[in-house]
Amino acid sequence: MSLKVEKLGQSCGARISGIDLKKDLSESQIKEIREHWLKHHVLSFPDQALSDDDLERFTLCFGSFGDDPFIASIPGRKNIIAVKRTADEKVPIFADNWHTDWSFQENPPAGTCLYGKIIPSQGGDTLFANQHLALEKMPSSLREKLEGKQAIHSALIPYSPGGGYGHKDREMGRSMDIRASNEAFLKQLHPIIKEHPETKRKGIYGTIGYIIGIDGMDNQDALKLLMELSAWQCQEEFIYKHKWKKDMLIMWDNRSVLHRATGGYEGQERLLHRTTVAAYGK
Ligand code: SIN
Repeated sequence: MSLKVEKLGQSCGARISGIDLKKDLSESQIKEIREHWLKHHVLSFPDQALSDDDLERFTLCFGSFGDDPFIASIPGRKNIIAVKRTADEKVPIFADNWHTDWSFQENPPAGTCLYGKIIPSQGGDTLFANQHLALEKMPSSLREKLEGKQAIHSALIPYSPGGGYGHKDREMGRSMDIRASNEAFLKQLHPIIKEHPETKRKGIYGTIGYIIGIDGMDNQDALKLLMELSAWQCQEEFIYKHKWKKDMLIMWDNRSVLHRATGGYEGQERLLHRTTVAAYGK
């Protein structure tokens, strides 16, 4: 049976059916999925009752595992983390600021796979913002200010000991096993306008949050420019709103989209298992 691919009528994203991800994928199936992933940036695979073995095997079809800092892996699975929230949890929603995964690393993950295990009856959508589209539609006055600039990425705001997911957050009872550390103070430069290593299409890479400054620019000026960029890059017309179902797997391209979690499921539990795909060629 061949793959059925449905575009979702939003800025990006496609739903894939006609494939059983519990089975080994052939080289041609992997190639076909990769092509759709590069074209649509976010793929969803509904109705896939997957074990952790299946999730790991699927991930490895697209590269080696990424290196996940700051969040402890689930027991016995070095490369899987749990994105979770209990029904009575009171701390802020995890990852509800726009970001692209681990962009503070030298070689950030190409992709992320997220599998829905316990999905609330409402809310908890994941939002994606297409950063190729955001660049292509950007006014030249803003683009000129960004061309050739290197952003300073760091995990210090969320993951340093005094940061958003630091010691205080842990004491307040977050169910996710987040391990804030001084490693979060490390800095890494990446171009703001970056070519996708596989498609060669240009896009905006990252946003304020993991981006804490612009190399060679005064802090206040950099902050002002980053705020202007963030107001542009996450507008409604660039967004795909992903609605979850249990047993749904999604895979997104961190080089093409920003993403963020949303709430709206107070009093309900949510649990997803997550892997990352290492940078292309790593
Ligand atoms: C994430 O950023 O990996 C979490 C997304 C979500 O919980 O919807």
